[in-house]
Amino acid sequence: MEKERALEVAVRAAREVGAILRAGMRAEKHASTKSHRHDPVTIYDRRAEQWIVSAIKDAFPEHGILSEEGMNSEGSSPYRWIIDPLDGTNNFLCGYPQFSVSIALSRGDELQVACIYDPLRDELFSAIVGEGAYLDGVSLRVSPQKTLDGSLIGVGFSSRPERALRTHAAMRPLLSQARGVRMAGSACLDLAYVAAGRLDAAWYLSLSPWDVAAGILLIREAGGRVSDLCGATLIDPETGILATNGAIHAEMLGAIGIGRNK
Ligand code: IPD
Ligand code: CA
Ligand code: CA
Repeated sequence: MEKERALEVAVRAAREVGAILRAGMRAEKHASTKSHRHDPVTIYDRRAEQWIVSAIKDAFPEHGILSEEGMNSEGSSPYRWIIDPLDGTNNFLCGYPQFSVSIALSRGDELQVACIYDPLRDELFSAIVGEGAYLDGVSLRVSPQKTLDGSLIGVGFSSRPERALRTHAAMRPLLSQARGVRMAGSACLDLAYVAAGRLDAAWYLSLSPWDVAAGILLIREAGGRVSDLCGATLIDPETGILATNGAIHAEMLGAIGIGRNK
């Protein structure tokens, strides 16, 4: 399997979907809800998914698909695409200009290719395993920040109140040390920003595989570190994820002090 070709397919689909989402920002979005009343889905989430899945199936009909809105298939090869067609649906719905498209390819458990696209800034973050991470073709490196003191941290508050309150409680020790905390509403972009050195760290209590797959590869390839909230290999992002520049990882784990979100 040619990883360069896979990335090309992902980048083309992400850019095309980005154009659809840009246009959709000012259009009727026909929102409905999914798992609970603050978990929206719009016709644009589904349109974006259809577009990306159809581009991938045309190019790689034997590959499996795991995509947020449910166009999943097993495939007959070890390759699987992990897709968040629109990350930041609540932002998109409200016209808040921060959302993204995230596409990753894995072989078994090994991430191979990553692409996160910000349609509003026209920024394309990409990575191929072992070949580094890039923003619009320019090589990325995580931030040189050495301490939690003075760092800029991204976080997400779940739309489920009990989880948001746990995140809130865990933020206290961070707030006294961080230079700033950002809650921008697109986990995928937060992770891309850690890779790009725009954030020193980002953490979330509960996410899904499509929220993190592309971001994890970007961060690793940019020299950073991703783990669960105990510092162990991330198996299930539902239990929480910490992504950092590496240097402040241990300090972040200690400050959050939350362990696995069972
Ligand atoms: C959401 C966003 C948000 C995070 C939520 C995610 P969606 O993804 O990434 O930042 O806090 O947990 O579910 O639903 O907009 O794709
Ligand atoms: Ca998402
Ligand atoms: Ca989504």
